[in-house]
Amino acid sequence: MRSLTSPTILMCPPDHYGIEYEINPWMSRSHKSDAEFARQQWQGLKSLLESLGADIKLLEPVPGLPDLVFTANAGLVFRDTVYLSRFRYPERQRETPIDAAWFQANGFSAKEVTPGDFEGAGDALFVGETLVAGYLVRSDATVHQWLGGQLGCAVLPVQLVNTRYYHLDTCFCPLNASTAIWYPPAFDEYGQKAITACVPKLIEVTDNEAARFACNAVVVGQHVALNSGCPDLETKLKGVGYTAHATPLDEFIKAGGSAKCLTLRLDGEDAAAWRSVV
Ligand code: ARG
Repeated sequence: MRSLTSPTILMCPPDHYGIEYEINPWMSRSHKSDAEFARQQWQGLKSLLESLGADIKLLEPVPGLPDLVFTANAGLVFRDTVYLSRFRYPERQRETPIDAAWFQANGFSAKEVTPGDFEGAGDALFVGETLVAGYLVRSDATVHQWLGGQLGCAVLPVQLVNTRYYHLDTCFCPLNASTAIWYPPAFDEYGQKAITACVPKLIEVTDNEAARFACNAVVVGQHVALNSGCPDLETKLKGVGYTAHATPLDEFIKAGGSAKCLTLRLDGEDAAAWRSVV
C-alpha cells in the first residue's frame, strides 16, 4: 500500500520537452524552448515542492513525446485508481500507454473513461467533495458525468470559453474545500454563477497574471507554488493565510503550461477523497 502520509506528486523530467506541434494558442514552433532553461526551471519547481514536504515520483521521459512533462494530464487519480486521459489531439494520445504502464507498475488500478475525451486533472479538480470539471476545449461533459457515477461524487461541469485557458487548471485552482483562485473571463456567465454558488471564497486574478498562469498553481498544505510574475496573487494569498512561493516557469508557458500542469497529485486532489480510506 502506498504511503498516505506525505503529499506525493508525479513529475516527468523535460529531457524531450519542446514545441514540436501547435495544439493550443500558446504554442508556436517558431518560439522554441531552450533545453537548458527548461531543465533548470523544472528542477527549480521540483526542489521547491520537495522543500515544502512533497515526495516527488518520476515518470521516465520518452523521445518524441514533448508534452509528457505535463503529468497533470496523465489522468485523474482517486484513491488507488487512475482514470486515464483520452487526449483530444493525436499528438498527445501516444502518451497514454506510457502513463498506463507507470500507474500499473506503481500499484494503481488504471481505468479507461467513456464516452468521449478527457484530459485528467487538467480538467477535473475537487473542491471539497465536488468535482469541478472543465469541458468543451479538451474534455467532454459526458465523461465528467460518467466519472461522477464511478466516484459517487457530485460533478459541476463548467464550460471553458477562451481557448487560451483551454484546461480548467489554467483558470481555476482550489486551495481548500471553500476557497479557490480563478479567472472569471475563462468561463461563461452560467459557469461563473455555478462556481460562485459552489465555492464560498473566490480569489480573482488579473488579466496580466492569468496570462502568467497564476491559476496554474500547486497547493501543498498552506503553501502555494506558482510561476514568477504574479505579485498581486501572492499578496491576496497572504491575505487568506497561504504562503506563495514563486519560481520561474516561462519555458513551459511556451507550451501552454506552468506549475500545476507539470505535476499530478497521487494522494488525491483533496483530503476529502482520501478521508474514507485513511
Ligand atoms: N502543450 C500541452 C497541451 O496543449 C500543455 C498541457 C498543459 N497542461 C495542463 N494541465 N493545463 O496539451
